[in-house]
Amino acid sequence: MLSDRPGVDATIQRKEGNNARKAPSAPAGQSLTVLAVETSCDECAAAVVSGRPGAMAIKSNIVWSQIDDHAAFGGVVPEIAARAHLKTVAAVVRQALASAGTSDADLSHVAATNGPGLLGGLLVGSSFAKGYAQSADLPFFPVNHLEAHVLTPRLTDGTPYPYCVALLSGGHAQFVAVRGLGDYVRLGGTIDDAAGEAFDKTAKLLGLGFPGGPAVERAAASGTERFTFSVPLARRPGCDLSFAGLKTAVRLAAEAEAPLSDAAVADICASFQATVARLLRQKTAQALAAFQEVSPGPPTALVAVGGVAANQALRAALQSVADDAGVAFVAPPLALCTDNAAMVAAAALEHAAAGEAPDLSARARSRWPLDADAAAMLGGGKRGVKA
Ligand code: KG4
Ligand code: ZN
Repeated sequence: MLSDRPGVDATIQRKEGNNARKAPSAPAGQSLTVLAVETSCDECAAAVVSGRPGAMAIKSNIVWSQIDDHAAFGGVVPEIAARAHLKTVAAVVRQALASAGTSDADLSHVAATNGPGLLGGLLVGSSFAKGYAQSADLPFFPVNHLEAHVLTPRLTDGTPYPYCVALLSGGHAQFVAVRGLGDYVRLGGTIDDAAGEAFDKTAKLLGLGFPGGPAVERAAASGTERFTFSVPLARRPGCDLSFAGLKTAVRLAAEAEAPLSDAAVADICASFQATVARLLRQKTAQALAAFQEVSPGPPTALVAVGGVAANQALRAALQSVADDAGVAFVAPPLALCTDNAAMVAAAALEHAAAGEAPDLSARARSRWPLDADAAAMLGGGKRGVKA
């Protein structure tokens, strides 16, 4: 509760001045400089981005990966992630500011990923960033991690709206129509596992390392597609995705081949990856068709983001769909496709430049769908879709 002692109130009001709900808009065209923090999963990241929508520059982009902390467990352990973020977040932010050569006086805004993600890590990063904003008397923007991913092509390529995104990461698998800032329509998404999760589980089953995606891709390179796995949801219209059945098919194939030779592992990986590529080719084409129904104009591009988009075979599959549809294919550099804070800073910069109000009181949220109007998907649980 606020004290009614004038001195205390005055202090609080001054500190809240930059985060008031009706903040004045940034003058049109003004260059902004945003410090952002990202801690939603196993990357502790901070970045400084400056400029204006359509002309942004990354001044620094620091990512401290916790992969080694989680490798022994074959996946991200939320409690370990939160503790590791607590240990590193201050140093990572310091490094981002130092390598950008930026002082508090140069900053116009502070931002952080507020969700969706692992709640412990989100609380660490967003609390730190809010405290930083308060102490520097700067406005704070809470950022949706998924929005940061889908706006990345605007940072890297200045892609104009509207465009179609395939977001394929360790925690997500969905197709999104990006019609404008804050105007997102989920065209389809996974009804069970995320895309990267499917790679990670396949790798774990076959005794390959974590993260599984690169290990599966490496093994697949020397394998042949001698296993026939059916393409999930092949006869279902629309562009929903599914990976759980494929995971079971991989397990059955591995059990039938046991004990597994390196050659058998390579063949299973090649067959799994080729099936995911077929799934993505089919569903991405259907996503582009669904796009026409929600957008007044055609997409300016098909965009692939998320760690899974690093996979060359999957990238080629998406590129071929874009070519067939006569749409440009945009795949941002890998460092900006995977989790990073530059995309968070860029998303905040877009909102600030649009004159939206900052919000210091926004709470961290483990679930925060991009498209609040989309129906919850199967397996989504009470609080919304998981992946
Ligand atoms: O986007 P990201 O770095 O983090 C999340 O937001 O989840 O994605 C990480 C995921 C992991 O599941 C990893 O196995 C997968 O991306 N991944 C790949 C490849 N490289 C990373 N999956 C398939 N092929 C790859 N080359
Ligand atoms: Zn992500």
